[in-house]
Parts: sequence; C-alpha cells; structure tokens
Amino acid sequence: MKKYIRFPGVRIMNDKEALAEALADEFESAASRVAEAGRTMFVALSGGSTPALFFRSLAARTINWETIHFYWGDERCVPPENVESNFLMASRELLNRIRVPEENIHRVRGEMDPDQEAERYALEIVRNLPLNSFGIPAFDWIILGLGTDGHTASIFPGFRLRPAQGSLCAVAGHPETGQERITFTLPLINGARRVSFLVSGENKSEIVTSILQKSEGFLEYPAAHVSPQEGILEWFLDRGAGSGIS
Ligand code: 6PG
Repeated sequence: MKKYIRFPGVRIMNDKEALAEALADEFESAASRVAEAGRTMFVALSGGSTPALFFRSLAARTINWETIHFYWGDERCVPPENVESNFLMASRELLNRIRVPEENIHRVRGEMDPDQEAERYALEIVRNLPLNSFGIPAFDWIILGLGTDGHTASIFPGFRLRPAQGSLCAVAGHPETGQERITFTLPLINGARRVSFLVSGENKSEIVTSILQKSEGFLEYPAAHVSPQEGILEWFLDRGAGSGIS
C-alpha cells in the first residue's frame, strides 16, 4: 500500500476557481478577526497573473477594508498604467471594486529611479509596520507567487539583487527580459507572521514538488528559502500545481 504523506500547510483545491475562493475565505476570516480586535492587517500582495481570480473573489467579500493596508511583494519598474504593472492588475481586479482608503494603498512607484524607490519603499515599510522579535518589520500576511524557475516575488535564481539600505527591499533584473523590478528580500519575507504561496497550473507542479520534497538542488530555487522565522508557511495549490505531491 503506497504511504501517502500529507505536507503540513499544503492545501490542494480542485481547480483555480476553488483555489481563489479558498484563499479569499481565509482572507475574509483573518480580516474579520482583525476588525473585531480593532487592529490593522498589513498585507503584501503577489504579482503576475495567478492572483487575478483571488483578487476578484476577494472584491465580492464583506470586509472592513479600512483595517487592511496593502503593499506589494514586488513590482515591475514601469508606470502604474503600464500593462505590466502589478498595481494595475490589483487595481482592476480588487482595489477599484472596494471601498479602501487611499492611504491604505502603499504602491511601489515603478516609474521612479529603481534604487531610490527601493530605499523609499523600505523606509515606508519600516515607518508603518511593527517589528518582530528579530527587529524586522512584520507583515501580518505576505502572499507569494512562484515562477517555473523557482523564483518568488522578484528574487530569481542566482539571487542577483541590489539591496537597499537595511536589505528589506532590493532591485532585481528579470533574467530573460532584463526588466528591472523592486522586490522584498528574503529577510523581510521571512519576518512575516504568515506567508502563503498561491500557485496554479500543471506547469508549476515540478517546481512545487521539488521544493516541498526537498529534492536534490532544491535550494537553488529562491522560493525554497522562504521559511518564516516566527510565522507560518502555507501552500495554496490547485490540482495541477499539486499534482506531483501526494
Ligand atoms: C511578478 C511576480 C512573480 C509571479 C510569478 C508567477 O511580478 O511576476 O510577483 O513572482 O508571482 O512569476 O507569475 P504567474 O502568476 O503569472 O505565473
């Protein structure tokens, strides 16, 4: 009888729609706990295309958005109206559909000089977030995507980053296009109270499996270095992305 080993913190949903709803359910529960406690929830959103369904599902939920502050785990160095902008996609699918105060939206200014913006964004995070016991600004929740090369946020294999002062944010170049991006660094990601990978599609299953099973060479993948010091790590997968693990 083959022994099926469940991975802690891994949830596999039937399809990408169910995946989006499951994460939106979690978000809605977390937001209501925060509102009841009279607190603020500092969230960092992922970029790319995967989160679009999640954002759209979230926009339909009953949430007190005044208690939620939105940041981005990474952003392309393009203006906010550029089709490549992670902020533009989040605006279309979520922010323009909800009543969230302007001051709760902490956009990375992709149109600015990358190194200066990395410094500015890191400072904005330091000024607004509480520190964890390691002295790192602690996001309540960081949602991350995963590339088929094992990158997450804009930390690509080879880890070639130009860190800003204090190494909370950095400038990275996309390995194929050379496009510059502002990204959270691993110390900032690993300082969060909760980190969730949101991954969809059969094309991601090999990398997901390699990281979760700690296959040979898995540490070459930046996503494998996401390991919150004090927080929890979760994987929200659809059946395609989770097809390689039992
Ligand atoms: C970005 C991301 C990046 C993304 C992965 C997955 O700015 O592109 O933050 O890390 O999450 O590349 O992208 P897809 O969701 O498009 O597959």
